[in-house]
Amino acid sequence: MIKRVRVAVAGVGNNTSALVQGIAFYRHTGSLVGLRRPTIEGLGVGDIEFVAAFATSEEKVGRDLTEAIFMVPNNFPRLGGDLPKADVPVTRGLVDATEVDRVAAALAGAEVLLYAAPSGRPETARAYAEAACRAGVAFINTTSDPVARDPKWIERYEAAGLPLVGDDLASQFGTSVVHDTLLRLLAERGLTLVSSYQVNLGGTEDFRNLAENANTKKQSKLNALSGAGKVELAPLGYLPHLGSQKVAHLNVEAQGWGETAVSLDVKLKVHDPSGAAGVNIDLIRFAASALREGRGGYLAEASALLKSPPGTAV
Ligand SMILES: NC(=O)c1ccc[n+]([C@@H]2O[C@H](COP(=O)([O-])OP(=O)(O)OC[C@H]3O[C@@H](n4cnc5c(N)ncnc54)[C@H](O)[C@@H]3O)[C@@H](O)[C@H]2O)c1
Repeated sequence: MIKRVRVAVAGVGNNTSALVQGIAFYRHTGSLVGLRRPTIEGLGVGDIEFVAAFATSEEKVGRDLTEAIFMVPNNFPRLGGDLPKADVPVTRGLVDATEVDRVAAALAGAEVLLYAAPSGRPETARAYAEAACRAGVAFINTTSDPVARDPKWIERYEAAGLPLVGDDLASQFGTSVVHDTLLRLLAERGLTLVSSYQVNLGGTEDFRNLAENANTKKQSKLNALSGAGKVELAPLGYLPHLGSQKVAHLNVEAQGWGETAVSLDVKLKVHDPSGAAGVNIDLIRFAASALREGRGGYLAEASALLKSPPGTAV
């Protein structure tokens, strides 16, 4: 029988809610809808067990993970069906590097730490990466803050024989993958890109945070796109009434045969945390499989699921 992957999460926000609920949903229903990889190295979507969770909000600390995921400002909806208690009390996360040892101790028994705190706090990301490394745990950085793009961290994880995955997940069917696919198609069909933009609107806490503090996110979003130099990103817009839905508008202006104009507009509407969970479930299984095989350092197989793998701009 396959041994379930023991996962710790830092950040009990919408993405963790979608992940925790989704795993229970797939385990219970046996559905394959919305899954890119039903198994990875023999590990099914249900073969994940949460063993620790870190948060900073007073309301979430001390609660069971399966209760904390429904507390405001989280607004990802209930997926329905039974959600058995995880028996994982949420513990206080670290806010600065002085607490690394406490968090490392709390990671005992975990195989993978999924870092899902807000983007735009590079020091916090590095402190969790340090805690995971000290605890002998694989680290996945789902935020746009640079960790795996820093050669020092790759060397650290290589030397420790631990997998490192990052940076910034590319949603399963989000703005980045759809936009990049359109830009690649244009080039493949021999058209010339003139200009392009994307507008992202959303009602999650992630959008609220990024609308105020998009520092590392903007570069990371550009890293995910071909056509560099001709693509503009409008500032992220926070519209609370959208809830966990994200609305993106993509525009591409190009020239075809005889320099005649070609124009394309796309509207995409998705639940943003679902797009993250659909990728995080694969990143976790890649990291756990590599750890179990004794492969450390950056995991190349994860690159296609990330916006800013090593080598991209910081
Ligand atoms: N499709 C997507 O949703 C998507 C795509 C790419 C990247 N991301 C990134 O994934 C991350 C998580 O997204 P989300 O929508 O769940 O965000 P969120 O804001 O809903 O959740 C983050 C949680 O982390 C908590 N937190 C803050 N500081 C912390 C700390 N020091 N330790 C532990 N917890 C802390 C916050 O209180 C919050 O509950 C963000 O960085 C986001 O930019 C999301």
